[in-house]
Amino acid sequence: MQNNIVDIEKEAIESIAQAKSPDQLEKLSIKYLGRKGVLTKFLRDISSLPIEERPGAGKNANILKGKLEAVIKKAFLKLEEDADKGDAGVDVTLPGRPLQMGSLHPITQVAEEICDIFLRLGFDIAESPEVETDYYNFEALNIPKYHPARDMQDTFYVSENIVLRTHTSPSQPRTMEKGKPPIRIISPGKVFRCDSDITHTPMFNQVEGLMVDKNISFGDLKGILTTFIHQFFDKETSLRFRPSFFPFTEPSAEVDIRCVMCKGKGCRICSKTGWLEVLGSGMVHPAVFEKVGYDTDKYTGFAFGMGIERLAMLKFGIDDIRKFYENDIRFLGQF
Ligand code: PHE
Repeated sequence: MQNNIVDIEKEAIESIAQAKSPDQLEKLSIKYLGRKGVLTKFLRDISSLPIEERPGAGKNANILKGKLEAVIKKAFLKLEEDADKGDAGVDVTLPGRPLQMGSLHPITQVAEEICDIFLRLGFDIAESPEVETDYYNFEALNIPKYHPARDMQDTFYVSENIVLRTHTSPSQPRTMEKGKPPIRIISPGKVFRCDSDITHTPMFNQVEGLMVDKNISFGDLKGILTTFIHQFFDKETSLRFRPSFFPFTEPSAEVDIRCVMCKGKGCRICSKTGWLEVLGSGMVHPAVFEKVGYDTDKYTGFAFGMGIERLAMLKFGIDDIRKFYENDIRFLGQF
């Protein structure tokens, strides 16, 4: 016989140890254990051996067969294991899977921007409840029982004396009751009115502002609000103070800005007037000071309130307020 069994074993074990891929192992398995393989041939050739050597040779060949099967199986497992932990299994050049990032709701972003501007002007933030008493929502703001703003059409009543606040103005008497002037606060939050169309949602957001001290004048109101408009829109935005009425301020003024869409030429958004109303304001009415026990000879102040959705629509050029609350990720994802 050409090869004795010891040589076959040595050669086989060495080449199996050197195999680098499952393919190479497969070939070695065929070479030694296959139907036409080295060991099969060896077993077949046993018949040519002298009779007394045959049983020993057969036994040795069968032992080696079992041994090689085990060694090859182990080598396969080792290749697999290496592939799992090594770079053979992971293609590090593949691009990573992108993570879907969330973002702040546009209303939250605009509310934060408004608050930031006033914080820089020295205002503090004062929270105020969404479920409010009739007293703070109306009575303390000089809105008597017969006033049309109390009509069931506008106000969500929880019970006879409890309402969902219709504006953020209750934060004025609430803040003044808690301390003495000087007061400089803004109060952002949700408000509720029974109303729904392309410019109204039953829930929307406002920011209230209040400044009270000795010698606060209408000039301070104009200065603060002009600074705010110029920072929120841009320095070139013209604005005008137009006489208006609120039960809790006297005199009162609404602030209009030059239409951001047509720059004053007149368009659908500004109803051809060239101006857009952005907020309500005025000097705090003495009746409001009296309710919170402030000396009306000593203190004066101004207050203002603005709708956050309206400011966000003008800033981003959005034409339908309901888009903010439909939760369409394609819309919200743009901000
Ligand atoms: N509360 C008023 C509104 O909702 C706005 C306002 C606030 C006006 C403060 C004057 C002063 O329309």
